[in-house]
Amino acid sequence: MSAAERAGEPAARPAPEPAGDMDGPWSSTVRRDGAGALSVGSVPLAAIAEEFGTPAYVVDLDDLRARSRAYAAAFEDAFSAENGLAGADVYYAGKALLTVGIARAVAECGLRVDTSTGGELAVALRAGVPGAHIGLHGNNKSDAEISAAIDAGVGRIVVDSLAEIDRVEMLAAERGTSVPVMVRVTTGVHAGGHEFIATAHEDQKFGLSLASGAAAEAIRRILARPALELVGIHSHIGSQILDLAGFEAAARAVLTLRADVHREHGTLVPEVDLGGGYGIRYTGTETVPPSPALIASTLADVVSRVCTEVGTPVPRISIEPGRSVVGPAGLTLYRVGTIKDVALGEGRSRRYVSVDGGMSDHIRTALYGAQYTAALANRAAPAGAVPARVVGKHCESGDIVVDHVALPDDVARGDLLAVPATGAYGRSMSSQYNLVPRPPVVGVEGGGARVLVRRETVDDLLGLDLDA
Ligand code: LLP
Repeated sequence: MSAAERAGEPAARPAPEPAGDMDGPWSSTVRRDGAGALSVGSVPLAAIAEEFGTPAYVVDLDDLRARSRAYAAAFEDAFSAENGLAGADVYYAGKALLTVGIARAVAECGLRVDTSTGGELAVALRAGVPGAHIGLHGNNKSDAEISAAIDAGVGRIVVDSLAEIDRVEMLAAERGTSVPVMVRVTTGVHAGGHEFIATAHEDQKFGLSLASGAAAEAIRRILARPALELVGIHSHIGSQILDLAGFEAAARAVLTLRADVHREHGTLVPEVDLGGGYGIRYTGTETVPPSPALIASTLADVVSRVCTEVGTPVPRISIEPGRSVVGPAGLTLYRVGTIKDVALGEGRSRRYVSVDGGMSDHIRTALYGAQYTAALANRAAPAGAVPARVVGKHCESGDIVVDHVALPDDVARGDLLAVPATGAYGRSMSSQYNLVPRPPVVGVEGGGARVLVRRETVDDLLGLDLDA
């Protein structure tokens, strides 16, 4: 045990080497070349830094496509009619990272797109995703967002409250149309991280409670409104979940509700959406994440079993993964600036390695205590390693990118650091804190790199300020 571990701190480990697989924090095309530098999709990260500057979000589009295809194929196979099931659709949860190029890439691979705001909806539509292949979520949708979704002919608006039923109906009636809706049900299954805790997780803002009867009441009301077509029941239990038991419990709950609705109203709700939330590895030390094939076969099995038990035909199934589609496909490239060795007492010290971004482009460490790793990207690393903390350039001591990682002890100003697994909820949760313009999103595919979203500039910041 190291002195740091004795002091109650986790060990600082080096980043795992890129393994060319789909299970680790690195995208599957990341490699170390003969000289020890990192490349993605055969493009050296140093060349990306040179051409596009740092910090930069780098998305491996070939890897993103491979993950998207794996989901589409796994769900098509597992939910086939041959298996006695009624098909399945995979909606990419755009909240993880949505640009026009990314929406096009996932749609080309057979995924649909789940949106949760008018902004995400507009990007999906601009990408050419058919309205019928888009869903709209949100616990507080504006009339403008609902109207935009109806006008785009979205395949489903996921109703999140009783009051929203009236608003969607009114906006549909104004247009003389009927609108496909799902009901988001809070099943009482709360899951997250490595744990599955079955608990009545009622005290939060999303969905309509199964336990209180609000979900059944929403369904009753929707069935009585001619302008609303009940196309599904929806459940989303949490995020970064590595254990599939919670999904099975939630599937059981919503399929049982569907059977109750059938008995009470004679209506067989055609679809059940089991949400997103599948976890990934951020540091390589986590449990191996479930593959799309394992997720699909596990869900297909529970859907068949429960429908047999409750005596209803199987519904069409959908899921909404975000993180597990785009998370490992992305990394953030930073340039090292100030380095400080800080004495911690008892002979221990920590090297603070500052990079040219921070909590404005990477909030998850500060917000959730999320663990990441980092590796030198521009050259080989010598054997020695020092416990380091990678920090940003913002005016907060909580501005931490990687809390603890072993970095080569010759890490120096001007080196490049790559932080893997930042594809999901990195760029999408970024801010302009301290008026730091956002980094670009650089896509790598077919051996080349191109900008998907350009870097913001100080002129962009001043352009929004009408006193400037
Ligand atoms: N569907 C619904 C209804 C959701 O609320 C979410 C995520 C997803 C799908 C996609 O979940 P995923 O497969 O990406 O886990 N900002 C947090 C994550 C918040 C997720 C919110 N909802 C983070 O950075 O970890």
